[in-house]
Amino acid sequence: MNYDELRKNARINMNNVCRGCKRCDGIACAGEVPGIGGVGSGEGFIENVRALSRVKLELKTLHNVKKPDISSEIFGENVSFPVLPAPMAGMKSNFGGYFTEYEFASILANACKELRLMYTSADGPDPNMFNAGIEAIKNTGVPSIVFIKPRGVKEVIEKIKVAEEAGAKAVGMDVDGAGLILMVRSGQEVGPKNTDELKEIISSTSLPVVLKGIMTVEEAKIAYESGAKGIVVSNHGGRVLEAAMATCDVLPEIAEKFKRKMAIFVDGGVRSGVDVLKMLALGADAVIVGRPVAIAAHGGRIDGVKWLLKNYADELYQAMILTGTPDVHINSEIECFGNNILIKIKERGTWRV
Ligand SMILES: Cc1cc2nc3c(=O)[nH]c(=O)nc-3n(C[C@H](O)[C@H](O)[C@H](O)COP(=O)(O)O)c2cc1C
Repeated sequence: MNYDELRKNARINMNNVCRGCKRCDGIACAGEVPGIGGVGSGEGFIENVRALSRVKLELKTLHNVKKPDISSEIFGENVSFPVLPAPMAGMKSNFGGYFTEYEFASILANACKELRLMYTSADGPDPNMFNAGIEAIKNTGVPSIVFIKPRGVKEVIEKIKVAEEAGAKAVGMDVDGAGLILMVRSGQEVGPKNTDELKEIISSTSLPVVLKGIMTVEEAKIAYESGAKGIVVSNHGGRVLEAAMATCDVLPEIAEKFKRKMAIFVDGGVRSGVDVLKMLALGADAVIVGRPVAIAAHGGRIDGVKWLLKNYADELYQAMILTGTPDVHINSEIECFGNNILIKIKERGTWRV
C-alpha cells in the first residue's frame, strides 16, 4: 500500500468529488463546499498548506538524540503519537456518498483504537452525523473527543450528556461552525457564543471541554477564562471564512500565551509527519489531520487510515532525529528568514499536557 494507490482509489470511490491530487492543497477543489474544498476562492484552505510549506526546520545531526520519543498524553490518555483524525461529517454532501456516516466513523474509530490514538467525532445537520460517531465510540471503546456544533445552549448540553454516557474522554464545540449555511438552511440553530453561554455549557460537565476554531489570542483568552481545558487552532480547513489566516501563522502567538494553561490542538494543511513536527515546534500539543485521513479511508478503509497515520509517525520520528528533537514536548525559537519562518528547536522541553 502507498499514498498514490490510496488517493487513486479514493478518487474513484468519491466519484471525483476529490481529485486525489498528489499534493492535497485546495487548488483543484477551490470553492467546493459542500464538497472537499475550501469555501469561496478556496484561499483559507490553500493558505494553510502554503504557509506551512514556508516553515523550515534546522537540519542537525551532531547530537545524542538517537531514539526520539514520539509518544504523548492527551487528557490523561497515553497515545502512541500526538495526532488525531479531524471530526468530519457529511458523507453524501461532501464525499460523494461512498460511505454512510456510521461506516466512516467506524473506520476512523477502529484505526485509532488499533494505533492507540484518540478519535474525534463530528456533528451536522442530519442527526445521523452526530449519532454515527457516538455509536462508533460505544462499539470500539476508543478514547475520544466528541465535537458538537455551536447549537443552542440547551441542545449542546443535551448532546454533552450523550457523549458522557458513550464514555467520551472530552467534549468539544466547533465554535467556528457559527455561520454554517447548511445548518441554518436545515432550520437548526447555530450561532456565536458569548462568555455566559460558554460558562453555562462548560460548567454542565466534568469532562474537559475543547473549543475548536480559535484563531486569535483574544478568543483563546475567552476560552480559557470560560473554563475550557483545550482549544483547536483551526479555520475549519478553510471551509467557513475564505479570508481566514493560516493556522500555522497564528499558532505561535496563541501558544506563547496559553501553553501549559490549556491543551493546544491545531489543524489545517498538515500533510506529513514533518508537518506534524512543525506544528508541535510552533507550539501545539497535538495535531489534527482532516482531508488526508478522509482520502485514506475512501482509498483503503481501516488499513488505508492505519497506513497513512503510521507513515506520519515514521516521518515524525525521522524528522525528530534530523532536528535533534528528543520528545514531542518541544521548546523552540522562531525566526523570520526571508519569506520563510525558521524554527530553532531548543533543549528538551519540560512540560506535559
Ligand atoms: C468534508 C469535511 C467535513 C468536515 N466536517 C466537520 C465537522 O463536521 N465538524 C468539524 O468540527 N469540522 C469539520 N471539518 C473540518 C475538520 O475538522 C478540520 O478542521 C479540517 O479538515 C482540517 O484541515 P485539513 O483538512 O486541511 O487537514 C470538515 C472538513 C472537511 C474537509
